[in-house]
Amino acid sequence: MVQILKSPEDLRAYSKSLRAQNKTLGFVPTMGALHEGHLTLARTALAECDACIVSIFVNPKQFAPHEDFDRYPRQLDKDADLLSTVGVNAVFAPEVDVMYPKDFQTTVSLSEVTKPLEGEFRPTHFTGVSTVVARLLLLVGADKAYFGEKDYQQLQLIKQMAKDLAIPTEIIGVGIVREKSGLALSSRNAYLTTEERPIADQLNVILKTMASEFKSGAAISDIERRAAQKLSDIGFGKIDYITIRDAETLLPPTEETKSHRILAAAFLGKTRLIDNISAD
Ligand code: PAJ
Repeated sequence: MVQILKSPEDLRAYSKSLRAQNKTLGFVPTMGALHEGHLTLARTALAECDACIVSIFVNPKQFAPHEDFDRYPRQLDKDADLLSTVGVNAVFAPEVDVMYPKDFQTTVSLSEVTKPLEGEFRPTHFTGVSTVVARLLLLVGADKAYFGEKDYQQLQLIKQMAKDLAIPTEIIGVGIVREKSGLALSSRNAYLTTEERPIADQLNVILKTMASEFKSGAAISDIERRAAQKLSDIGFGKIDYITIRDAETLLPPTEETKSHRILAAAFLGKTRLIDNISAD
């Protein structure tokens, strides 16, 4: 069985004991409600490192007051079982008041990379992410930490933060794990109704169409307009963005752009879905 650690002290002691055995350590931060996407991160960590620690913490700082913090799925026992089957060594699952003691005062925030896309629509989100991930990375002291491309902008900002703060953990990006239909796995897919599922599947299909239109030389503004129209036509509600961007800056492409990324965030009923693919 996987060991469950509840306090930062236990976590530090555990990771120190692994180091004492000269084991390399991989770390996978999550908010739980684990699916094959998370498990793939853990498997990748175990393939590249001698041991793997996974954290499960629904981080209140990265949810805005109107968002789904209270209803976010929580299933620690089931998650721990899944992680045991993969061979993960330990799970760090702190309570909120342990992770953020009463006198907690520090905020980590980044500038440029957090401004566009998610930053525009969830203005407090990334500060919550960078604050918790900085604390987790420093607590675990892993050699490598694994993040999914599913949250493409999050991956970019964590790479930037680790570089800026000289955090001695290598940040590794892992490709998106999808359903056969193409739908990116997400803990939030659990919110989708049976009627919404096939509509959700179309998000990735539309992104792929955008990629092929882009490759055949169509104008970006036309591609984006058609895609947004399609999403609305099939039943998506508010579209936060569906856009082709510079894959590094996440700003609109310029002459200096080396690679392109197509990214989307849109509501289907009450569920906010995100996805992204390469355009090149
Ligand atoms: P969470 O949404 O639980 O995701 C944890 C990690 O799993 C993230 O790196 C995310 O990109 C990755 N992931 C999720 N779905 C995936 C998929 N279908 N394929 C590949 N990877 C996938 O992201 C967070 O939690 C939080 O913001 C966190 C980093 C833990 C900070 O609180």
